[in-house]
Amino acid sequence: MEQRTIAFIGAGNMACSIIVGLLQSGYKASRITAVNRTSERSAIFRDIHGINANENVMEGARNAEVVVLGVKPQSMEDLLASMKNIDWSRKLVISIAAGISVSRLSEMAQATLNLIRVMPNMPALVGEGMSGLYAPDSVSNQDRVFSTQLLEAVGEVCWVTNEEEINGIIATAGSAPAYFFLFMEAMQIEAERQGFDKHTARMLVQQSALGAAKMVVANPDIELATLRNQVTSEGGSTAQALNVFNKNQLSETIAEAMQAAARRAEEMESLF
Ligand SMILES: NC(=O)c1ccc[n+]([C@@H]2O[C@H](COP(=O)([O-])OP(=O)(O)OC[C@H]3O[C@@H](n4cnc5c(N)ncnc54)[C@H](OP(=O)(O)O)[C@@H]3O)[C@@H](O)[C@H]2O)c1
Repeated sequence: MEQRTIAFIGAGNMACSIIVGLLQSGYKASRITAVNRTSERSAIFRDIHGINANENVMEGARNAEVVVLGVKPQSMEDLLASMKNIDWSRKLVISIAAGISVSRLSEMAQATLNLIRVMPNMPALVGEGMSGLYAPDSVSNQDRVFSTQLLEAVGEVCWVTNEEEINGIIATAGSAPAYFFLFMEAMQIEAERQGFDKHTARMLVQQSALGAAKMVVANPDIELATLRNQVTSEGGSTAQALNVFNKNQLSETIAEAMQAAARRAEEMESLF
């Protein structure tokens, strides 16, 4: 892929996952800069990841062809205000922040940004991310291709045509690792309660989750309900477990949780 110079402004958990994924996929370390406020974090990027790092936003962004905005949504306005002397006209800007629209980001920067919104998720760290992307019509095809390739280096990508759909991406993929972690956490706790030691309980759960996910990916033409039926014998133990999930309205709970996530993402748009 094209090796543009990229500055990650605010390289915390999420941006770091993308950086590590990019490096693992062969992106040149010399083309990546991480900017944070603390020298401790810069040292980690320099010493462990071997990329450029500093605490000076202007210096980090000035020479970069691509600026990735990776701070928390509540820090974005101050960050962009501090960057008001940047010449944005020749840069591609990628925002990974939840809940801040393209027009709001340009307003904060007091400039018309050439901007793509990306909603990544944490498994980018292991090359298995899922990112949703949105760009206004003004963004060139070349920039769309570059950002697609950038995020494909750390997983799968999905473009949306309306900006509001980003909130659905947040509910379905951005927040999703936490849903699965919670499910596995609950299973591990119960496995331990049933007598397994911590290590064994975790292995039983994580390998089952991995195996199930791999089966889903390997069988794109088989409906998820069919896969579920294939492992559920009538009157068997799996059927008993699923009865309990249904009795406790697991599907409805999941729907309610995802709606709450999407609603919160929408609400955040009025906060920042
Ligand atoms: N976490 C997720 O799963 C996830 C998923 C999708 C999208 N996102 C989005 O990703 C963004 C970051 O989330 P996160 O979880 O990665 O947060 P995080 O770990 O707190 O990272 C934010 C980073 O920004 C740095 N920072 C804050 N203000 C700064 C400034 N003015 N100049 C330079 N660096 C600054 C912080 O480091 P210092 O304190 O050293 O400055 C920190 O490393 C959010 O907007 C969120 O919506 C997160």
